[in-house]
Amino acid sequence: MGFPEGFLWGGATAANQIEGAYAEDGKGLSVQDVLPGGVVKPVSAGPTPDNLKLEAIDFYHRYQEDIALFAEMGFKVFRLSIAWSRIFPRGDEAEPNAAGLAFYDRVIDELLAHNIVPLVTLSHYELPLHLAQEYGGWTNRKLIGFYENFARTVFEHFRGRVQYWLTFNEINSILHFPILAGIMNTTDKQDLYQAIHHELVASARVTKIAHEVDATNKIGCMILAMPRYPLTPNPDDVWAALDAAHDDFTFGDVHCRGTYPGYFLRKLREAGIELDITEQDRIDLRNTVDFVSFSYYMSVCESATDTTRGPGNLIGGVPNPTLAASQWGWQIDPVGLRIVLNEYWDRWQKPLFIVENGLGARDELVDGTVADDYRISYMNDHLAQVGEALSDGVAVLGYTSWGCIDLVSMSTAEMSKRYGFIYVDRNDDGSGTLQRYRKKSFYWYKDVIASNGATLTP
Ligand code: BG6
Repeated sequence: MGFPEGFLWGGATAANQIEGAYAEDGKGLSVQDVLPGGVVKPVSAGPTPDNLKLEAIDFYHRYQEDIALFAEMGFKVFRLSIAWSRIFPRGDEAEPNAAGLAFYDRVIDELLAHNIVPLVTLSHYELPLHLAQEYGGWTNRKLIGFYENFARTVFEHFRGRVQYWLTFNEINSILHFPILAGIMNTTDKQDLYQAIHHELVASARVTKIAHEVDATNKIGCMILAMPRYPLTPNPDDVWAALDAAHDDFTFGDVHCRGTYPGYFLRKLREAGIELDITEQDRIDLRNTVDFVSFSYYMSVCESATDTTRGPGNLIGGVPNPTLAASQWGWQIDPVGLRIVLNEYWDRWQKPLFIVENGLGARDELVDGTVADDYRISYMNDHLAQVGEALSDGVAVLGYTSWGCIDLVSMSTAEMSKRYGFIYVDRNDDGSGTLQRYRKKSFYWYKDVIASNGATLTP
């Protein structure tokens, strides 16, 4: 069947992992500025010199060169996030920071000049630090209003230039790393679930606003997808897998159906959690999304008895004895991507967008390039499964590979965990020229895009 005409091929990034310039042009501090070791080390008192994200890959000053490279590969779409703290440095101001908007004007206009469609994440793990410290992050209902103000500002400002928006990156990750939702000082489950409710209401409210500002806007939720397989055919393991999968489905169910699913309400009841849900909240939640986007890197197993947890993208799980793993222990499972695509399509019947996928690996720069056949093989195999899912009848809007240019890792804040088609000369100790180099995968992806997937091998 092949990839449809107009399939959106491209790459994905997040502001805090590429921009740098953390205090430039009036930007306020964000939660990410105090996470020098990603989510694996505790929060620091303030920005520290060992936080690679403060300079990142200096996209802030090098965006023209980078976008030209994306265009050379033939990108149709580029996923970026807008750093909330550039637009509202503290998060609770009434008026935006004009210099922050001006930076994204430059970036978006540059993309459009190259016929690249911008796909913008509103919140990619980087709310203003002030909202985390003074308000308790998303545990506080006031965050909904601040987020609405931010979203309305950018919807209006970029009207006619940006059409594709994602509300919260990997919204289900809050269950595992509340710090990414600005929750710094509590491990209380009541607070955590109330924060989830606030994010879901906020997502629904800005979906409504986006449609009011421009009826052609397309809003997606964004889920960390990680299929959970039963470790054995024992029904208890099968249930353990479905029970764990429900934790992720909840977020898509609310975004696509507009109400909380019964299994989620049961979990709350049994945990003694009573959410503060107003009548208006229930009405707001009915503003469902236009499409579902997700990240996919790996699958895991679940078991009723085996409590081993292996490494993985934030969630992790029981290691699968049939799969090999990346250098960071993330198990590689291309068929899992076909499974997710089918599962989500069957469940929600909304167009899907794969907005993250890729292999984090150590690269060696030799003679100005990287022979990253391992990355080509990973991506080929995953994209071949996207082709299978398309033949299964799944509606897929596009594919943006994660970290299309090397960037700072989210979980460990390393540079050496590279995902890109473009090598950036920066090392874990902060040294390096920041110069960009085309890897072998750069040319490979260019051919894949030019042929609309025809050069992929089964
Ligand atoms: C996703 C995040 O979880 O995975 C990205 O949305 C992140 O921000 C990506 O970079 C890969 O994870 P890591 O930890 O290898 O950077």
